[in-house]
Amino acid sequence: MPRFIATAVAALCLAGPAMANVYETIKIDAGKALFDVQCRRCHAVDSTDPSYGPPLENVLYRGAGTYPDYAYSTALSASGIVWTPAALRAWMEDNDGFMPGTKMRHVGIEDRTVQDFILAYLTSITTQDNRAIEGQD
Ligand code: HEC
Repeated sequence: MPRFIATAVAALCLAGPAMANVYETIKIDAGKALFDVQCRRCHAVDSTDPSYGPPLENVLYRGAGTYPDYAYSTALSASGIVWTPAALRAWMEDNDGFMPGTKMRHVGIEDRTVQDFILAYLTSITTQDNRAIEGQD
């Protein structure tokens, strides 16, 4: 476990269970740090930044392959899936196995805690309700 996470968890234990919001903030901060290492070189989190992969702001519950004007592979754009937390986990864990034939190089994040943190961060940069837009529940 990276030291900053261990420190954060230790701080949390001292703070006690009333600090749920602090815990959420720590998860998001840890997720951002992990995202910067694992994903940021290809993914912007702000569509005004240049990005090799599709920008990931508002990715939660977005239809796969639907970011406007991004040149997706057919595999991704024809997949018909929605980026639920479970789908994002499966993608982080083994994107090639989950969906063969996309343009994204393999990432293999098997540690569920790391997935949790990155997911918390991706949730924090999702500010629109894609479920309402996509008509799903
Ligand atoms: C080496 C570059 C690279 C890295 C590193 C990378 N990605 Fe990607 N990612 C891409 C590319 C390119 C695509 C588009 C794939 C396609 O169209 O087939 C993509 C697509 C995606 C999509 C689909 C988005 C959509 O609009 O449907 C998600 C979600 C995603 N990546 C998440 C991540 C996460 C989370 C990480 C870090 C754990 C990560 N990626 C790391 C290059 C990368």
